[in-house]
Amino acid sequence: MRVVITGGAGFVGSHLVERYLRDGHEVVAIDNLCTGSLRNLDDASENPRLTFVRADAAMPLPVRGQVDLVLHFSSPASLVDYTRLALETLAVNSAGTGHACDLAERHGARLLFASTSEVYGDPHVHPQPESYWGNVNPVGERACYDEAKRFGEALITTRMRKGPLDARIVRIFNTYGPRMAENDGRAVPNFFAQALAGKPLTVYGDGNQTRSFTYVDDLVEGIVRLAAHPEARGAIVNIGNPEETTIAAAAAIIAEAAGVAFHVEHRPLPPDDPARRKPDIARARALLGWEPATPLREGITRTLAWWRSARGYST
Ligand SMILES: NC(=O)c1ccc[n+]([C@@H]2O[C@H](COP(=O)([O-])OP(=O)(O)OC[C@H]3O[C@@H](n4cnc5c(N)ncnc54)[C@H](O)[C@@H]3O)[C@@H](O)[C@H]2O)c1
Repeated sequence: MRVVITGGAGFVGSHLVERYLRDGHEVVAIDNLCTGSLRNLDDASENPRLTFVRADAAMPLPVRGQVDLVLHFSSPASLVDYTRLALETLAVNSAGTGHACDLAERHGARLLFASTSEVYGDPHVHPQPESYWGNVNPVGERACYDEAKRFGEALITTRMRKGPLDARIVRIFNTYGPRMAENDGRAVPNFFAQALAGKPLTVYGDGNQTRSFTYVDDLVEGIVRLAAHPEARGAIVNIGNPEETTIAAAAAIIAEAAGVAFHVEHRPLPPDDPARRKPDIARARALLGWEPATPLREGITRTLAWWRSARGYST
């Protein structure tokens, strides 16, 4: 198979690149490096079945030759990044999603779109099943991301109604693991960087807001299964860990795993920060036989080991 992965030099994208190469496929990774890094592809770049194309995925995708699967993963993904790149975020998830549809349709390839739990906004339904429409502020600071992903979903589902496109949508919940960006404002990387630098861990609000943390290998497994499923045209699937963890508890586990004292510094909550987030994964279980396999402590220990070796922390 020849797989095109937009956002291939990002955190999740680079793990997908490695997984498809490991499974014996050819991979074309497209990235403009606005939030990703070629360092994320250091190991993969030695593989002759990988082609890297530096290009803006908000524009028509410059891919020639056979295409069997398109994974549209390019998008700034953290509050810090999509606030800085707000218009680019809107573009890559709207026009860019249209170009990803065009490429897939032209080649009779499947498309898988990386959507997000943010489409549920600050949810009134808990846990969130895929049938929940969400509670999103369409004009708030996060709208450039949340509404762009919602538009991407609307575009794909409309194009499937109007034409032959075979697409699937994964709604990704908070994912962590090796290679996540260090300073993008997300809770887990913040905690790692602060714990390893011996600083107090910054907790926004009282820390009782919950998240579900998924280890990246588990996410990749869910994505690969959804993309490969022979009868999942049009499927929209939550992939995330249904085990709810408070932000304060996650901070404590990271401090303990890093072997540092647990000091917290509280800061005000950012606007529209969701209070609770937990996926209903009944559909992933039934359709894909998927559920997360990596307990939080184990995933944190693995991430910490990578953080120390790749980022040179000595603590
Ligand atoms: N990591 C998570 O917890 C999470 C949660 C929900 C959804 N997602 C989605 O998964 C995808 C990957 O997220 P990530 O965490 O790996 O983020 P990331 O920032 O590490 O990766 C995104 C990649 O896309 C590239 N990119 C962005 N805009 C581009 C453009 N216009 N053209 C070409 N390349 C572009 C960036 O340079 C980067 O390499 C995103 O679509 C994100 O919305 C991630």
